[in-house]
Amino acid sequence: MSDAVKEGIIRLAQALWASDDLSFVDTERTQALREDILRKLLALAMTDDERAAMLGLPHGCRVRESAKIISPDSLVCGEHVWVGENVVLDASGGLIVGSHTTFAVGALVWSHSSSLSNIMMDNRSGNPWIVRKPTKIGSGCYIGGPSSIYPGVTIGNQVIVLPMTVVTEDVPDNVMIGGSPAKVLRTINDEWIANYRLQNGL
Ligand SMILES: CC(C)(COP(=O)(O)OP(=O)(O)OC[C@H]1O[C@@H](n2cnc3c(N)ncnc32)[C@H](O)[C@@H]1OP(=O)(O)O)[C@@H](O)C(=O)NCCC(=O)NCCS
Repeated sequence: MSDAVKEGIIRLAQALWASDDLSFVDTERTQALREDILRKLLALAMTDDERAAMLGLPHGCRVRESAKIISPDSLVCGEHVWVGENVVLDASGGLIVGSHTTFAVGALVWSHSSSLSNIMMDNRSGNPWIVRKPTKIGSGCYIGGPSSIYPGVTIGNQVIVLPMTVVTEDVPDNVMIGGSPAKVLRTINDEWIANYRLQNGL
């Protein structure tokens, strides 16, 4: 890039920063939100494991660049969890994730629901109609994206959630689920693992 182009970009950024189009509000709430936004912007320059460490996740966790964790302080997460691009992990109502679980690109995991605030015609910030329920995902799970897991759902250990699944109810250990609403499609047992490894030469 030529120096003239670089200087042009800097001039443009300076003009934008000085313009009245950028309106910042100086309240406690906006300052707190801005800290989150700046953290996210700076995290773009981090690697997957640096990003996970910044969020306080344990050893071996990796978080891709555009993933969002809501209320990370309320997330209890095992080791070696992989969080893909555009994943949303909502821990605002409590979220537990076991070790060696993957959230594939675009997976959405919820522990709150705001729909009542709309029905009550009261969608103000801080309205009292938000429903929060703790959600739990077991160890050794593969959560395909873009699936959606509803607030309050418990998913067992070693569960495969196929892409585009909507999980509305609890799921037992060692199953494959798919569809909307999710249905059990396979049992994940030694036979399934042996067949899958054979088919894929692993
Ligand atoms: C699931 C997987 C492990 C294969 O397991 P499998 O036992 O061979 O599964 P199948 O392909 O036979 O599918 C099982 C059943 O679910 C159905 N199914 C497959 N994908 C589905 C989906 N997204 N939603 C609903 N049903 C689905 C199949 O049609 C099949 O139905 P059947 O029982 O009537 O035959 C493999 O396909 C996989 O990992 N898929 C996800 C890939 C992915 O998301 N990659 C992202 C990057 S990691």
